Formats: sequence, structure tokens, C-alpha cells
Amino acid sequence: MSVVSSITVTVPATTANLGPGFDCIGAALTLYNQFKFTRLEEDGLIISVTGTEAQRVQTDESNLLYQGFAKLYQYIGETPPSVKIEIQLGVPLARGLGSSATAIVGGLVAANQLAGAPLSQLQVMELAIAMEGHPDNVVPALLGGCRLAATSTDGWEICDIPWCGEIVPVVAIPDFELSTGEARQVLPTQVSRADAIFNTAHLGLLLRGLQTGNGQWLKAALQDKLHQPYRQELIPGYDAVNTAAVKAGAYGMVISGAGPTLLALVDQLYSQAVQEAMLSAWHSAGIMAVVRSLSLDTQGASYQG
Ligand code: HSE
Repeated sequence: MSVVSSITVTVPATTANLGPGFDCIGAALTLYNQFKFTRLEEDGLIISVTGTEAQRVQTDESNLLYQGFAKLYQYIGETPPSVKIEIQLGVPLARGLGSSATAIVGGLVAANQLAGAPLSQLQVMELAIAMEGHPDNVVPALLGGCRLAATSTDGWEICDIPWCGEIVPVVAIPDFELSTGEARQVLPTQVSRADAIFNTAHLGLLLRGLQTGNGQWLKAALQDKLHQPYRQELIPGYDAVNTAAVKAGAYGMVISGAGPTLLALVDQLYSQAVQEAMLSAWHSAGIMAVVRSLSLDTQGASYQG
């Protein structure tokens, strides 16, 4: 077993749900957090943070990245080593871009490597899903690409979803936060059969739309009845940004994860126009935002060390 003293893990942001795929589909995006773990000779935990909204991150044992790190050692029945952790943030916090998932996956992957890789990637993934509570952020953060996760009698089945290269994800990230807890609290605990059928059909259409790039299918596919109608109320300017994105040529717009980031899927020909339209609509609603055209990350969590 080779023992390394330092490991740097890079983990992509993710966008979960993609409209009708509530709690089961997510895609990794080309926006990253980086975490460097170095073993310390002396006892202790040192955490430093730089980058986007760095001052908001906890630097003690309650840090989610450290919780992931400690979780893996607990799982293998060992005490976590003393470490210095240097966090470089590129994914904004509490915006629906999977910042928590980057921390959980980053901590688990780093611990697994520092411990000499006792767990398989599948075991790391199962720990990550158990920590997060749902699979749609942590699975693409770990594996990259667009992924569908479904339970089976043996645990989880993970399926990679083909994504036509001409479909560009445009993210519009507002300057306010929305906690996943708050965004889940507004959801009903029961839904009608009609709404369940609606989402089943639209998720099927979405999978084929993503694979083929068929614009007609994508336009219809991004609708949802399970979470977005309830969450829109929590996102001021939602309607205006949606209308602007579609008018500028987007297939449609969804809430990224639990929000408040809004995600448009766009043919690459229109990505610049959609980007400008979403930004302008949010500014007109009095909300500052950053809007970016990203790509699908296909690598997932990677490490060096
Ligand atoms: N599927 C989750 C939700 C993603 O929408 O609540 C956020 O973690």
C-alpha cells in the first residue's frame, strides 16, 4: 500500500434535476473547486480558504469537506490523520451548483487516496450519496458527464446520459442564496397521478433530446410538475429571465438544482445572445447576476499527488 503525504482533488460543479429529473439526474459543469490535503506531523486541523465567497466557509471540524474526509476514515475504522487543507473555491455557495457535493466528494476522494485507496469508486459513491441524501449532485461530481441514478435491489444503478455536443448549458447565477433545505420545504409530500405521468414522459423526452439535440423535443422536455412550480416563488425575476432566455433562442430554462441559479439549454449558435438576455432581464428586476456559458465536464473528480 503506497502512502502519500499530500493530495490535490479537483471537483466540478453540478446542475441537478434538469427540469423533470427531480432528484435523479444531474450533469457536471466546467466550473471547479480544488482541495489540497497535506498530512501534518503534529496534531491538529488547519483549513484555509481562497476564492469565491471564501470568508463564508467554516474552518473547523464542522467544515463539510472535512466531514467527508473524516467519514471515510470512520467507515474504514481508522482515525483521520491530522491535515492541513487548502481550499480554492470556484463554485459559488448555496446557489444550486452543487458546492456541497464538491465538498463531500472532495473529502471522500482525498481521504481514500491518503488512506491508500481502500475503497472502490463505487463504495466512495455510495458513501457520498448517503451523506448528501440524494444522488443527483454527488454522482456527476464524482464521475463527470450527465448521469441518471436509480435505486435497485443491489444499491444504485448509474447510467451515463449521452449529451449532444451542440447543447450549451448557460448558467445565470444571482447574488442571493437559497438553501436546499428551504427549497425542499416548499414541495408537497404527495403529487397527483397526472403530475407523475407528466414528469415520467418529460424525463424520457429529455433523455432523447439531450442525446439527439432535437430542438422540438428539448423545448417540451424541460417542463416539470414536481418541484419547479413551487420553487419559482422563491426566485424573484424567474419569469422575466425565463421569457428573455426563450426569446433569445434557448430551448428552455430550468432551476439549477434547488436554485436560485437558472440554467438555460441552448444551441451553441445562440449561447451569447441567451447569456446577454438573461443577464439583462435579471438586472432589470434589480438583481445582480453572473451569467456564463459552460460545457459538460466529462472527467468528474480528479486528483494529483
Ligand atoms: N435534487 C436536489 C433538489 C438537488 O432539487 O432538492 C439539490 O441538492
